[in-house]
Amino acid sequence: MDKFIIKGGRRLEGEVTISGAKNAAVAILPAVILSDEPCIVENVPSISDVNISLRILSEMGAEVTNIGKDAYRIDPTKINKCCVPYETARKMRASYYFLGALLGKFNKARVSMPGGCPLGDRPIDQHLKAFSALGAEYTLSQGMIDLKAEKLRGSQIFFDVVTVGATMNAMLAAVKAEGLTIIENAAKEPHIVDLANFLNSMGANIMGAGTDVIKVRGVEHLHGTTYAVIPDQIEAGTFMIAAAATKGDVLIKNIIPKHLESITKKLEKIGVNIEQYDDSMRVWVDGPLVKANVKTTPHPGFPTDMQPQIATLLTLASGTSIVTEGVWEQRFRYVDELRRMGADITVNGKVALIEGTGKLMGAPVKACDLRAGAALIIAGLAASGITEIEDIFHIERGYDCMEGKLRQLGADIEKVNVPDKPKENDSDNKTAV
Ligand code: EPU
Repeated sequence: MDKFIIKGGRRLEGEVTISGAKNAAVAILPAVILSDEPCIVENVPSISDVNISLRILSEMGAEVTNIGKDAYRIDPTKINKCCVPYETARKMRASYYFLGALLGKFNKARVSMPGGCPLGDRPIDQHLKAFSALGAEYTLSQGMIDLKAEKLRGSQIFFDVVTVGATMNAMLAAVKAEGLTIIENAAKEPHIVDLANFLNSMGANIMGAGTDVIKVRGVEHLHGTTYAVIPDQIEAGTFMIAAAATKGDVLIKNIIPKHLESITKKLEKIGVNIEQYDDSMRVWVDGPLVKANVKTTPHPGFPTDMQPQIATLLTLASGTSIVTEGVWEQRFRYVDELRRMGADITVNGKVALIEGTGKLMGAPVKACDLRAGAALIIAGLAASGITEIEDIFHIERGYDCMEGKLRQLGADIEKVNVPDKPKENDSDNKTAV
């Protein structure tokens, strides 16, 4: 088992370069299946969720070649399987994008239900609603989702909830369907726009991505392309908060400042200084941090994937802050770990009351999911003494060389390997975010 050991109390200073976006890459890689020619995907983050997506593609028969730092050539023309088995699907939530991509290309797909998850109920009813609207039939049996369609036909899809995954899956399945598909109440996250841009670069006809109505006019063929994934908005936000929590001064490079607007505005309220440039920003703190109220909502609101990190920062600010979670039922599971580090947080349902104490103390803690893990790293960097973080496989799903980037900024963090403890259904816990 790997764990991080952090000696806290060091100011982060210097420059950090943000990697490609996890939540865009895990949709774009399956989307390559839709192409009739090889594609090159660049700025692919080096994280375990990407490794799993690439392995799934290879196991299906695609030729995957690493052609340089963070770039892959993927030839989908030799794919001879339309199945993603349990063993791989359970490791990554985003394996559901293979449903839309395979259905869109071959009119059939067989993918295991994505594994259990630590954020509360994560249904896929809206994904299935979209596939049905396009003319597919589905069966759920033995933990597998089977989709098949005689022919996919454009249709009107109205989502009952704003959902990133189902919006992306609807685009993947509709892109080659006959006629016009209108997706209403669509999610607007930057990775939705990135997937649409990627598909359009292969010859698709998608309009309106980034608004709540997306129109997809089906095309017969999609061709090869070379495309660079957008920078990771959440990784950038995490480094912004790490800089603020250590009262540091960091230049964050390779970002799209527009994607970070809600985070930037909230941090400025808390007392963080931010100067924006074209594709970078400087984040520094030279005064007191003060309380703020935060409510997470779908884009362009404050992202749920930044909630644990900003809550950690608010424990270091003066005054009482209220953090309300508006997307996931169980996003406060990290709070118990932060309490072990001296945080004063009370959770009532979807609301957390944070009494800022201005300080945290190092302690042994455990990451319960990806963003919870990021929050514990921030806490460890700001705390006095030593913090040991277990279950860092969660963090490595979504952050490209987090400890290396932090070390470059002056953090005292190392990854150590310790012998595994006796297992208690350990493998069941290793499900994805
Ligand atoms: N929902 C339904 N039915 C569905 C799908 C979703 O009721 O069929 C509900 C969910 O239960 C949730 C809400 O809709 O309450 C939003 O879920 P969404 O589908 O948007 O989430 P997702 O696609 O499963 C992605 C990210 C998450 C991120 C959310 C929200 C990926 C692989 N995952 O999940 O990322 O929190 O959108 O922005 O893109 C992370 O990166 O740490 C992470 C958890």
